[in-house]
Amino acid sequence: MTATTRNRIAVLHGVNFDILERRNPELYGGRSLSQLEHQIEGWARAAKLEPIFFQTNHEGEFVEYLHRLPDIADGSLINAGAWTHYSRAIADALDVTGLPAVEVHLSDVEAREDWRKVSVFDGLVVRKISGKGAEGYREALDVLAHELGVAS
Ligand code: DQA
Repeated sequence: MTATTRNRIAVLHGVNFDILERRNPELYGGRSLSQLEHQIEGWARAAKLEPIFFQTNHEGEFVEYLHRLPDIADGSLINAGAWTHYSRAIADALDVTGLPAVEVHLSDVEAREDWRKVSVFDGLVVRKISGKGAEGYREALDVLAHELGVAS
């Protein structure tokens, strides 16, 4: 890769993803976050992307990480969990990054409770992918590779 290559992808997980393996396996697949990240890492490398992983249960920490994002990443893949549905603070911080972002959900949020159909990231993300399980992350990486002009 040349010095000008923009291929660093921050893979951001929000609240309750640290206990992913304890959440409803029918909705979330039963794997742990580190297993999911391992899978994402393989897909990212195959797509010539450099993944950086982050998870927190603290909204302010998530916001502060987004503040630093333009220094360490070229794009982001965001699954903010329940914050997706109400945290305007996180949406505002994502907007400030100015980086292409793809929103991902393991479960099909459109087919669940009405409150999950609302996303604060509407209009801020390049694509929203939900209901495809881990495979949705692979699709999100492809979208970001395309956005950043990274050819695999
Ligand atoms: C989720 C969907 C959200 O509604 C929920 O609060 C989560 C996980 C998903 O990946 O399907 O924590 O983002």
